[in-house]
Amino acid sequence: MEIFAFTLFPEMFEGPLNASILKRARDKGAVRFEAVDFRAYSSTKHMNVDDSPFGGGAGMVLKPEPIYAAVEAVLGSRSDYKGKIILTSPQGKLFTQSMAKTLASESALSFICGHYEGFDERIRNLADEEISIGDYILTGGEMPAMVIIDAVCRLLPGVLGEESSALSDSFSDGLLEYPQYTRPEVFLDKRVPDVLLSGHHENIKKWRQEKALEQTKLKREDLL
Ligand SMILES: C[S@@+](CC[C@H](N)C(=O)[O-])C[C@H]1O[C@@H](n2cnc3c(N)ncnc32)[C@H](O)[C@@H]1O
Repeated sequence: MEIFAFTLFPEMFEGPLNASILKRARDKGAVRFEAVDFRAYSSTKHMNVDDSPFGGGAGMVLKPEPIYAAVEAVLGSRSDYKGKIILTSPQGKLFTQSMAKTLASESALSFICGHYEGFDERIRNLADEEISIGDYILTGGEMPAMVIIDAVCRLLPGVLGEESSALSDSFSDGLLEYPQYTRPEVFLDKRVPDVLLSGHHENIKKWRQEKALEQTKLKREDLL
């Protein structure tokens, strides 16, 4: 999958995209990532990308021209680009695991990261989707883009060590995951449930299904 992030702060992506599963995905060639600094596409003498809002008010608004110019220069015309363009926005559709699954089937994803007071309204025409990662306001769209990139990339074939581990994760089947244990068998007087040590695969499967339902009822009844 090819991923582009249109941002004023490309350096914000360096840590998360260069560690753990995302680094492995890039090293394996499953993901190609490029952060595009849209300041480089400003046509003003001082490379301005923001201006004060018409009608007054606090803060600065991102101008539409540098973002349009950057997207066009990097992705080509809208009909040439076969992927999805996502606008990170607190006004967007709330991001979920099922959206991550749908996005994982795309060949390319591009993120437009707002900043300051947000972007000129006319930017919205560029995007296929507007996505929010929650009902709170972050400083910019970089962290939301990274959250979405992470959730999508771990679903790409061959990215996780064991394909099946994404399938049992919370939300993938509508439930929270069952409790997990590892060595030692006894810790602070708490024993690992006998069934997990029994080697009886059917019983283990049944126990896990029951516990997943129990955890969901207890912690997130709204999912049921
Ligand atoms: C400080 S916010 C602007 C908020 C805007 N003034 C408003 O009230 O809707 C700057 C940028 O951060 C990103 N952003 C902030 N919170 C977000 C969220 N919950 N989900 C997705 N993007 C978010 C968006 O790209 C937004 O344009």
